[in-house]
Amino acid sequence: MLVDPVLPSWQRDLEELTRLNLELFCTLDTHIHADHISAAATLKRESGSLIAHPACDGLDCVDRPVREGKPISVGSVALEPLFTPGHTDGHHAYRIGTRLLTGDALLIDGCGRTDFQNGDAAALYHSIHEKLFSLPDDTLVYPAHDYEGRRVSSIAQEKTRNPRLGGGNPLDAFVKIMDEMDLPYPKFIDYALPGNRQCGVCPPGVPDQLQQYCGEIGDSRQG
Ligand SMILES: [Fe+2]
Repeated sequence: MLVDPVLPSWQRDLEELTRLNLELFCTLDTHIHADHISAAATLKRESGSLIAHPACDGLDCVDRPVREGKPISVGSVALEPLFTPGHTDGHHAYRIGTRLLTGDALLIDGCGRTDFQNGDAAALYHSIHEKLFSLPDDTLVYPAHDYEGRRVSSIAQEKTRNPRLGGGNPLDAFVKIMDEMDLPYPKFIDYALPGNRQCGVCPPGVPDQLQQYCGEIGDSRQG
């Protein structure tokens, strides 16, 4: 299973699976992404993998709708979906034993933005405190992004030192931080959302300077 695969690197991912002598059973997304196109549809076409995605997003292209309380099993591995709205209204994190894939809800020393896609800072606060910070302290946190190249944290670390959510920071202080972030409008969102509502189709009309989101690694369009 690949979680949140990205369109430009689908060939790299398939090559790695081949190297490991694995077959791709399904792709699984945490939410409808605004910053890239999912590789779910391309990997289905190329390898026959199923598409799993949160049911509440209501996408027509999904083979396996995902819901909290309904684990997804692949061989001996079981993923437990955790409904964690706030970054988007349909976001899910996935727990695999002592590991937690937090998507864009909880990041290392941060969290996903809450100012588009029906984002809601108070909802994100409750998702993280009630669904994620209630897990055992030694649960390993694997976020979807880290702009400093870090790969893993833990629930204990985020509860202690996350500057937005840790150290007992109360709800109103968190909402104020998120309200005052004043982030730029995401440059690819107008293409990513319709593309990802089709499980990862690059929509027509993507301008040249954004084609790297649709091209393949090594593709000349990537420039
Ligand atoms: Fe996101």
